[in-house]
Amino acid sequence: MLLSIDHVQKSYPGGRPVLNGVSLTLAQGQTLALTGESGSGKSTLLHLVAALDGFDSGEITLDGQPLSPLDDAGRAALRRNTLSLVFQQFNLIPSLTVAQNLSIHARLACQDDPGWTSHLAERLGLADLLERYPENLSGGQQQRVAIGRAMATRPRLLLADEPTGNLDETASAVVLELMLSLVADTGAALLLVTHSPEIASQLDARAHLSGGRIA
Ligand SMILES: Nc1ncnc2c1ncn2[C@@H]1O[C@H](COP(=O)(O)OP(=O)(O)O)[C@@H](O)[C@H]1O
Ligand SMILES: [Mg+2]
Repeated sequence: MLLSIDHVQKSYPGGRPVLNGVSLTLAQGQTLALTGESGSGKSTLLHLVAALDGFDSGEITLDGQPLSPLDDAGRAALRRNTLSLVFQQFNLIPSLTVAQNLSIHARLACQDDPGWTSHLAERLGLADLLERYPENLSGGQQQRVAIGRAMATRPRLLLADEPTGNLDETASAVVLELMLSLVADTGAALLLVTHSPEIASQLDARAHLSGGRIA
């Protein structure tokens, strides 16, 4: 398994457990939709898998590496080398052009491959927009840049938190199709949070988070 989540518990200070024994596995190249009511802990679980936050008990193992023993440097290395994130809010860097945004994470990880980045720009329909700044792009275009930036490091796992949540129906469909085809071509696994049963139905598997567990 690329990702194993085993009986993970997580509470925030002073609160009841948000995750109360979550178990889930994801194979290399598999795509999984994570659904659940607002506040059910979907983003929390994604943050834990991305080693952005710690958990109280249980274990998460990514690419053979248990996360709980890792120190900050180990967690940062995992984020650089193994996974990438896409968010609802795009999170592009406003002072950088599309071309610079596309390559920034790969550059920081010393994995910049200009040929691969320009292939991604072509695939994502961004080749004519490379000198623009994010403020001059539509939401769908911004999210396509964010997907290119995420895939530029050739992650084994792509984590996407409601990636089409801010897009209209047409842009959503385009973004989802591009994300699924890039993930399929590169053999990456995808863990995608969505509210939409229609989006969930296009992925290999589906897990529903409710009451702190996978229902
Ligand atoms: N940093 C935080 N500090 C305290 N509580 C939080 C924090 N992040 C999320 N929560 C709480 O944890 C619960 C789950 O939140 P979240 O994971 O964002 O759910 P979802 O993404 O499914 O909407 C909510 O009750 C939320 O208020
Ligand atoms: Mg959320």
